[in-house]
Amino acid sequence: MGIHEQLQHLDALRRATEAGGGEARLQAQHERGKLSARERLDLLLDEASFVELGRFVTGDVASVSGAGDAAFDAGVVTGYGTIAGRLVYVFSQDFTVVGGSLSEAHAAKIVKIMDLALENGAPVIGLNDSGGARIQEGVVSLGGYADIFLRNTLASGVVPQISAILGPCAGGAVYSPAITDFIYMVRGTSYMFVTGPNVVKTVTHEDIDMEGLGGADVHASISGVAHFAHDSEVECLEQLRRLFDYIPQNNREDPPRRDTTDPFDRRDPELLDIVPEEPTRPYDMHDVIRRVVDDGDFYEVHRDYAGNLLVGFAHLGGRAVGVVANQPAVLAGVLDIACSLKGARFVRFCDAFNIPLVVFEDVPGFLPGVAQEHGGIIKHGAKLLYAFCEATVPRVTVITRKAYGGAYDVMNSKHIRGDINLAWPTAEIAVMGPKGAVEILFRKEIAAADDPEAETRRLEQDYRHRMAHPFVAAARGYIDDVIDPRDTRPRLIGALDMLRNKKDQNPPRKHGNLPL
Ligand code: HXC
Repeated sequence: MGIHEQLQHLDALRRATEAGGGEARLQAQHERGKLSARERLDLLLDEASFVELGRFVTGDVASVSGAGDAAFDAGVVTGYGTIAGRLVYVFSQDFTVVGGSLSEAHAAKIVKIMDLALENGAPVIGLNDSGGARIQEGVVSLGGYADIFLRNTLASGVVPQISAILGPCAGGAVYSPAITDFIYMVRGTSYMFVTGPNVVKTVTHEDIDMEGLGGADVHASISGVAHFAHDSEVECLEQLRRLFDYIPQNNREDPPRRDTTDPFDRRDPELLDIVPEEPTRPYDMHDVIRRVVDDGDFYEVHRDYAGNLLVGFAHLGGRAVGVVANQPAVLAGVLDIACSLKGARFVRFCDAFNIPLVVFEDVPGFLPGVAQEHGGIIKHGAKLLYAFCEATVPRVTVITRKAYGGAYDVMNSKHIRGDINLAWPTAEIAVMGPKGAVEILFRKEIAAADDPEAETRRLEQDYRHRMAHPFVAAARGYIDDVIDPRDTRPRLIGALDMLRNKKDQNPPRKHGNLPL
């Protein structure tokens, strides 16, 4: 064969590799509202940036019935490309080829790009759409999963790992995404569960469909397994691209900067009116965050889960930051089990990837109750505390109102290495709020009073005057300054600029023992 015939042959082979499981299966995929593995990569990556690796890898096709025209496809498309010009490694499972199930060859392709990502210090993005372990290959396929789990773990905290679940993801297969940093799901077409509805029905007699057991909304709002839920694959992949505005390529790089026309010295008079005069009235901490960060742009993570603590990314003075904020509008902003887990995971991601932390604090304490105590609020709350304690990135706090009890210590206090801690004049920093304190300290006096209610009110007023303000903490240096709320943005940008070369280290050790 001359070179021209060889090129023609090559062209035909390349087209065959791109056909996946064939036209009929592709049509079925589309009819379900799902895109093909390659269409997804086109949406995810910069135009024409995808370079495919291993396109001619064959699975053991002889043993796989019905996969005749998929001879050059192991059920996953792998390679690298760019997002906003930055290198990323990707794999995209092809459900049209044997249900995207994971064969030995399929696993080997994923492992190859994960190894490249680690060696070259770039993120890995997995687009998951798979029936799980390829049943015909038995334990070999389980070994393939384990090879991936190991790499997920070794890459954790070294390069960002992101999972989009765009179809079924069942059995042990869920554990690869679970180890990655962020999980995106799509309503109506993506599912994650360890055992599906049929097994659930047999074992526990519970009747539930796939969406109800492990759909996007379930995982984004009830289990907290997913960080984002979207209405379509197009929206999901668009939003996944946005994440790259905030995260670095690896743990040795700083996060990207983003130009802004939002003036660094912008004061905001509206900030004076956000905290209500009545201390028990709620307000929306989103308003504070949006008024302070560049262009009001807050990329919220876990938006629908544990709403009493807000976490997400933003820019301040062009620098990417991780925002952690109590939300007085939900459960008065108390810390509970779910929000401690949410916060701890986010703080650890930011710390691993050099993203400074900005904390907005208004917290009345930990949530009381039998369910919380029996559910382990002690060990789960300790995770958030531990995460802040071990973080060595620049850390800035603004106390807008309450900072009570243990929650004061937990929420990035100076004692646990908060770098710059500021308070608004409305801040109340004490062991507990006036009502609780007075009831404990003056129980006898109140009981003996002619008018116990009036006496309680008087004592509360007195306590408020003596304790419920920021100046006791400021007198000790636990607060670096009490600021005019209007100055919050310039003060935060100034603090982050001052801290830009911060170097801090924890003692050498194999690893800490996070209270799991
Ligand atoms: C081999 C598989 C497969 C698998 C699907 N297929 N899953 N082939 N191994 N795991 C094949 C089907 O036989 C079918 O082939 C084609 O892919 C499309 O599947 P359908 O069933 O027609 O699609 P659908 O109705 O959409 O159902 C999708 C599904 C279902 C819900 C994923 O296929 C399913 O339940 N699959 C098995 C899931 C499972 O139990 N996997 C093992 C989990 S345990 P044809 O040629 O007929 O079209 C696991 C362990 C992980 O993964 C290990 C980690 C430690």
